[in-house]
Amino acid sequence: MAPSSAFSLRPLEEADIPAAAEVACEAFNSFNETVGLPPEVPSPDPFVEVIAAKLRSPLSFSVLAVNREGQPIGSNFIVGDPDSKIWTMGPVNVSTKANSAGVGRAIVKACVDHAEKEGAKSLRLVQLTSNPKAFSLYTKFGFDPKFVAAYFEGYPSKPLEVASGYTVRRLEEGDIPGCDALFLAPNGYSFAKTLSGFTKGWPFPMFVALKDGEVVAYTTAFLVMGHVVAKDEDAFVALFSGASAQLREMGAPPPTFHLPVAIHPELCRWCLSVGLKLVRHTWIMVKGEFKELPREPLYCPSIDWH
Ligand SMILES: CC(C)(COP(=O)(O)OP(=O)(O)OC[C@H]1O[C@@H](n2cnc3c(N)ncnc32)[C@H](O)[C@@H]1OP(=O)(O)O)[C@@H](O)C(=O)NCCC(=O)NCCS
Repeated sequence: MAPSSAFSLRPLEEADIPAAAEVACEAFNSFNETVGLPPEVPSPDPFVEVIAAKLRSPLSFSVLAVNREGQPIGSNFIVGDPDSKIWTMGPVNVSTKANSAGVGRAIVKACVDHAEKEGAKSLRLVQLTSNPKAFSLYTKFGFDPKFVAAYFEGYPSKPLEVASGYTVRRLEEGDIPGCDALFLAPNGYSFAKTLSGFTKGWPFPMFVALKDGEVVAYTTAFLVMGHVVAKDEDAFVALFSGASAQLREMGAPPPTFHLPVAIHPELCRWCLSVGLKLVRHTWIMVKGEFKELPREPLYCPSIDWH
């Protein structure tokens, strides 16, 4: 039970998904409107997918806040990675009708407490820099801002040539050792098992860039739920150039990624020069262990870090 009798907390169940998605859609879109950002989502449907996926993750913990009438007014999730013991939090959301009444604090506290109980090495989240309320809330719970990522979206204004010497194609099972060697350097743990699972069931197109037969960059998706690793900025440019051309041919949604912008200002200038849209900045916030990102290999985290 939360401290205020105006609401209570319980686990989110399958039957709650549509109502919880409605609340998340309203909370995020209303906030975006207040700071002049485009709507987060066109309808509750993307949140239905996100919440359902999180609920079904083997290592997940959910919390739903309901009002006195039992109606959902906010929710939050944490999802853990069993190998790295890194947990990620979100989407934290509270209905505007219940704003500033302690619901956000209660749903964050429940998740932070659970992560601690589970022995999480680190709890991570992605936070909009234009939201001082959320930033304050997370900081009070011990999250530290680690770096700012520029969230880029779009197809280049003119198709880009892949630089000579590079090949860009879809990622295959045989590429995993090369991909994992890249992932290991900035992260300090292996992603090979998860990536192998992705080659069998991940619904998004994954790409790899090769130079002299060696994997020099890959992405699990040029989408908010995908990460990118590249040996250096040239390899990133080659990967993006080749993948964006192939995605455009497939009629896929515009590619997106989170670029750690203070580490890669030149690459940020390149993104702008080829016509990509800088949608917004986000703080990557971490409670617990964190390995500072190196300049090389370059790492662009997904919304769930991995
Ligand atoms: C962010 C959000 C979850 C907060 O929920 P909420 O129920 O309104 O927040 P609460 O009332 O529990 O608490 C907010 C805390 O931040 C503090 N706070 C708010 N604005 C602040 C500011 N500018 N400076 C310092 N502290 C601030 C409040 O005092 C409170 O702290 P306290 O509990 O120690 O008093 C909610 O506004 C929301 O859903 N926003 C839209 C979606 C979103 O942006 N989610 C976060 C994604 S990263």
